[in-house]
Amino acid sequence: MSDRIAVISDIHSNLEALHAVIDHIDALGCREIVCLGDIVGYGPDPEACVDVTMERCGVVLRGNHDDALFRPVLDFNPVARNAINFTRKIMKPGLVRAGKKAKRWEFLRHLPLQHSRGDWLFVHASPNDPLKEYLLKTDLLFCREKIIEALDRTPRIAFVGHTHIPGVFDERLRFHEPRNLEDGFYPFESGKTIVNVGSVGQPRDHDPRACFVTIESDGVRYHRVDYDFRTTQSKILSNGPFDDFSADRLGRGQ
Ligand SMILES: [Fe+2]
Repeated sequence: MSDRIAVISDIHSNLEALHAVIDHIDALGCREIVCLGDIVGYGPDPEACVDVTMERCGVVLRGNHDDALFRPVLDFNPVARNAINFTRKIMKPGLVRAGKKAKRWEFLRHLPLQHSRGDWLFVHASPNDPLKEYLLKTDLLFCREKIIEALDRTPRIAFVGHTHIPGVFDERLRFHEPRNLEDGFYPFESGKTIVNVGSVGQPRDHDPRACFVTIESDGVRYHRVDYDFRTTQSKILSNGPFDDFSADRLGRGQ
């Protein structure tokens, strides 16, 4: 077993992508998996994804979609809202709260918002707002203050997900896309760094392969994993509340 830690995020009920990523992590011999949240939402297999996450991840944080199961979803777009309503319907336990259903539900209800380890911070979205704020490359042009504030709140390295777009913000306010990194490796510098680990179950950087990172002794490495997205797509299309867009986007990585 290596001393590498895998960090995954935004599984979004995509069981095929999650299995492929876990297999890859096991082949790498990682000693631990940290999950930055959004286990559910958008996809067809929330219960199975929660089971795998509960079993395999040492740390699991709360994403905005996990959180949305327990409140009215007024701020979601119709696609995301439909998926959360579907997820709540199949996952919410009945009055007698016992068994696997209740265990999953209570697990999701009590997910923490952040995790700190030395000078590393793990959150779903942003050090400014662990649940909802999007840190985007375009903010470096149009909203630099947001990135500066997020770096200020970063102890040294912050790991985030949420945008489904992998990449690294450095203290000189640059964004490093994994495709431009040699072997997907970003060496940590002395300054503060925010690492977006990308998405397992719904990548949006025009690459349909599942994405995650490993933390290595002196940096972070991006991994992309092929998975059978056509099976996920056919499950989405044969399930009631989903629209074609939720299936199509998996094949395009959008
Ligand atoms: Fe997400």
